[in-house]
Amino acid sequence: MNARPSQPALKELMEQAKLAAEQSYSPYSGFKVGAALLLCDGRVVTGTNVENVSFGLTICAERSALVRAVSEFGPGIRIAAVAVANLNEAASPPCGACRQMLAEFAAPDTTIVFPASAGTRTMRFDEVLPLGFDMQLKR
Ligand code: THU
Repeated sequence: MNARPSQPALKELMEQAKLAAEQSYSPYSGFKVGAALLLCDGRVVTGTNVENVSFGLTICAERSALVRAVSEFGPGIRIAAVAVANLNEAASPPCGACRQMLAEFAAPDTTIVFPASAGTRTMRFDEVLPLGFDMQLKR
């Protein structure tokens, strides 16, 4: 799958992200987040946030989904679309760390959809992370 995902496909991906949020382990924040990655071959991988009493060790839903995708399908995965959802009726664009991690497997035109302050926002990946870290050597 290389074409841009259709609206119904994105809606379905949002549903899967929401289902994943039901599994959230978030006793410290109470913020239940789910993420669903649509891979370029059509497979969908979900993840949720897993908190820790040592708060900084918490992993976000987006990175949970990403490490699961690589663990299950290997280092060649490519991401066609990302959906984020939460059960708290709050805005939740992916945090900076998650954007940087997703960038490794996303394309500039990968679609990302997430709850915004007013409804759902759909953006290109290069809009949410315009200047991610990269290790291009200057020559
Ligand atoms: N969280 C995510 O799962 N994704 C993000 O992009 C930002 C924040 C989680 C981490 C923590 O468990 C809770 O939301 C509150 O910060």
